[in-house]
Amino acid sequence: MKKYLPFFRGNGYKFILAPLLKMSEATLELIVPLIIADMIDNGIANSDKSYIIRMFIRLLILGISGMAVSITAQYFAASAAVNFVKKLRHTVYENIQNMSFSGFDKSGSSTLITRMTSDMDSIQSGINLTLRLLLRSPFVVIGACVMAFTVDAKAAVSFAVAVPLLSIVVAAVLFLTLPLYAKIRSALDSLLTLTRENVTGARVIRAFNIEKKQIDLFDRQNGFLTSLQEKTGRISSLLNPVTCIIINASVSLLIFLGARRVNMGAISCGAVVALYNYMSQILVELIKLADLTVTLTKSVACAKRVSPLLEKEQVSKNSVEDKQSENYIEFDGVSFAYPGAGGLSLENVSFTVRKGERIGIIGSTGSGKSTLLKLLAGFYPPTSGSIFLNGKNIENISPEELRSRIAFTEQKPVIFRGTVRENLTVGSENLTDERLISALKNACAYEFVSQKDGFLDAVTEQNGSNFSGGQRQRLAVARALSKKAEILILDDASSALDYLTDKMMREAISALDYSAVFTVSQRTGSVSDCDKIILLEDGKATVGTHAQLLETSETYREIHFSQFEKEDEAV
Ligand SMILES: Nc1ncnc2c1ncn2[C@@H]1O[C@H](COP(=O)(O)OP(=O)(O)O)[C@@H](O)[C@H]1O
Ligand SMILES: [Mg+2]
Repeated sequence: MKKYLPFFRGNGYKFILAPLLKMSEATLELIVPLIIADMIDNGIANSDKSYIIRMFIRLLILGISGMAVSITAQYFAASAAVNFVKKLRHTVYENIQNMSFSGFDKSGSSTLITRMTSDMDSIQSGINLTLRLLLRSPFVVIGACVMAFTVDAKAAVSFAVAVPLLSIVVAAVLFLTLPLYAKIRSALDSLLTLTRENVTGARVIRAFNIEKKQIDLFDRQNGFLTSLQEKTGRISSLLNPVTCIIINASVSLLIFLGARRVNMGAISCGAVVALYNYMSQILVELIKLADLTVTLTKSVACAKRVSPLLEKEQVSKNSVEDKQSENYIEFDGVSFAYPGAGGLSLENVSFTVRKGERIGIIGSTGSGKSTLLKLLAGFYPPTSGSIFLNGKNIENISPEELRSRIAFTEQKPVIFRGTVRENLTVGSENLTDERLISALKNACAYEFVSQKDGFLDAVTEQNGSNFSGGQRQRLAVARALSKKAEILILDDASSALDYLTDKMMREAISALDYSAVFTVSQRTGSVSDCDKIILLEDGKATVGTHAQLLETSETYREIHFSQFEKEDEAV
């Protein structure tokens, strides 16, 4: 919780003023019953109209100043809470943006979204309510008791019974319901995840006819949530009737004792009314206090969930020295296991790349092709071994610099909602239309983009849903080509393209001036003219040219000859 301290900065005075003002408001409220008592005893009893009016004006002034104080306090509380959460959200968002990929793998996008949205809301209302009630409510409860005893200690005996009883009831209800609230929260979380999965996977669900199964699953989770909420509701609903019984009983006791004292001439009628008022003030505040405890527990739970995101992630480094090297890129005994995964996804991979070389990477799905490239782009640090760029260990290069030197197309192209131009210029500024157009041409994307309304300003829907899979791939390649970079990485960027388009794209790209081009493909035909081919089998690499691998590798020969005839015809 210490991590939250910096977020108070700049608004500290609001965090102090709001509760203090609320306390002043409460003080004013505590005076009201005394004035009313006075009004009854001296004004009404003596039919003194001018006295009544004077008292009335006092009440009015108290009311107006109370309102002014209250509005100011509410304003400070709301403003403090909103500003606190604004800063919090900003920091968390920044940390999510800078999160390592292992971090993403661990958290999953669903919970990150809940933390940014509903958790933040909970924290905000928690702070707001705390500032308003934490000092005020206990102050009123204690203050009203003290006032009652000063008005008349004997008649106030009913307070001594009522307040502890009420507190016990409120505490018991809280004790029973608080753990349930935590359960409701996590049930809501799973329901959210399920809904999300079903909405994003709607097509698959329909295609496999599992709507009914998914609906049943949802019904079950929804039913679980409902039963939890019903249970909590049943317990909470006891709060009002039970407190009402206690209050009414003690009011009866109060009036009984008070009436006797009035008859004895020990106290006035007004004093009994004042006592009655104090009693109801106490009840109202106790219920508010219960409400505060519920909100506060929720907020604390949310704050705990958010707190791991408040720190910049510390990435551990295998501090390996830089070295003198003639090679442009060098993988030196690189092994890698995904955090939490059982086995190695890359095992002792070593190869070198000279400046200007084109590297093909081939291997069956799951053999580690994407992993190798993600390591090169610095998305994950190697578990052991090291990667050198121009002799410099890439762990000693800042992620920003490294990524500015690399243009990357992921296997699954990501298209943002916006326009074609916005998608091409992601991460690069001042790109001329000529550059974008030539990128589109080289990526074989010019034709279909030029047929869209608006050309470079044609609209792209969320996830690029108004483009086909192959078109999205080519847009992603065009984005990589638009960026000014030394290294081009195409991770299976042409898997959805026909062989001819793939070939045209490869030829256009090979004419471009990159220090290194990495092409992942499932087809030997797509990598055969590369300077070097890395064949991956279960994370282990064999490196050679097309001719060398044909000669030495059984697997490569198998891949090649299984595709050879088919592709031969296509060319
Ligand atoms: N984020 C991840 N977390 C855990 N394991 C992963 C992750 N991504 C890939 N893997 C595993 O690493 C291995 C290599 O994956 P990948 O490099 O994507 O293969 P390829 O690109 O050759 O199809 C696979 O066994 C896969 O299950
Ligand atoms: Mg892959």
